[in-house]
Amino acid sequence: MKDGRTKAKGKPKAVVWSDDLRIGIDEVDREHQALFLYFNELLAAADRHADAPETSREAIAKLELMFREHFEHEEKLMLETGYPGYHGHKDRHDEFFSILRSFTAFQPEVGGFDGFFLSVFRNWILYHISVSDREIGLYLQRRNAAAPSDEP
Ligand SMILES: [Fe+2]
Ligand SMILES: [Fe+2]
Repeated sequence: MKDGRTKAKGKPKAVVWSDDLRIGIDEVDREHQALFLYFNELLAAADRHADAPETSREAIAKLELMFREHFEHEEKLMLETGYPGYHGHKDRHDEFFSILRSFTAFQPEVGGFDGFFLSVFRNWILYHISVSDREIGLYLQRRNAAAPSDEP
């Protein structure tokens, strides 16, 4: 059966970092790379620990912490720099946790990260970085270009 559900069950591909994904804010770019590495670890763990709920719970807790810290950094940066799209961007961050919760609610039964969760996660992070986070980088570039330089 070739419906969407059957297709979504397949394990997604690893994410590969490339300079195209840089948004030009070093700290944020480093955190994005760390999120990519962790996604790829989860992908590998999904194979190894498909039947180990305890490992899954630890992996989810780590995932949630990494994202929470990363989102806090971005949100602080947006507020400090007067980014006009702050509220919409924060809504997207909150949406990520809603998605995560909707999956983790079933986690004890599922036992491990399934292909569907990993596919959703992969799509979300790629789209968010290359569209929403990129907007923050572009805003800061324009802002810095417009600001008077302290250089003599
Ligand atoms: Fe981000
Ligand atoms: Fe973001």
